[in-house]
Amino acid sequence: MKALIVIETCFGNTEQIAHAIADGLRSDGAEVHTVQADDPFSPQGFDLLLVGSPTHSMGLPKAATRQQARTKGGHPNSTGIAEWLDTLPTLAGQRVAGFSTVTGGIFSGSASKVIEKHLRRLGATIDGRKDFTVRGTTGPLADGELERARDWGVRLGGRSAEHPR
Ligand SMILES: Cc1cc2nc3c(=O)[nH]c(=O)nc-3n(C[C@H](O)[C@H](O)[C@H](O)COP(=O)(O)O)c2cc1C
Repeated sequence: MKALIVIETCFGNTEQIAHAIADGLRSDGAEVHTVQADDPFSPQGFDLLLVGSPTHSMGLPKAATRQQARTKGGHPNSTGIAEWLDTLPTLAGQRVAGFSTVTGGIFSGSASKVIEKHLRRLGATIDGRKDFTVRGTTGPLADGELERARDWGVRLGGRSAEHPR
């Protein structure tokens, strides 16, 4: 099975989660590619598409929140998941899953919820959504989150063996 993980990150935490998910997927023999949302790539031809982002202002990063991240020492690219999602045509029948990093708490919101909503509108088949906790704006990830991400990758990889497309 072939999987593509598309991410954006400002401080590297979402990228670490993506690599842990990729590790889990590979444990079942999957071929996994991880790209930044503003890289040149095509999302076609993958059995599973994973989309991950940090949560900014309870949703997806935008130009203004990326600028705020820069003032805190982050290194966001100039465009990310929000802009990339807007370029996508239909994803009818495409198996997808969304994830985000969050600081947690009742006002944290979740970028993965926004991702899921967008992907659902494009006709994709949603196969899960997860939020992973960081201890603060710049990280680090909370204890156990990398293991949880890897386990999720293992489960997503295993499900494809049960239900090959
Ligand atoms: C401008 C800005 C706004 C943020 N807003 C939220 C928020 O509404 N909810 C939340 O849980 N985390 C928020 N955060 C913290 C992010 O969750 C955290 O920076 C991110 O998960 C780190 O991931 P990254 O290293 O991949 O950038 C915000 C961070 C920035 C820079």
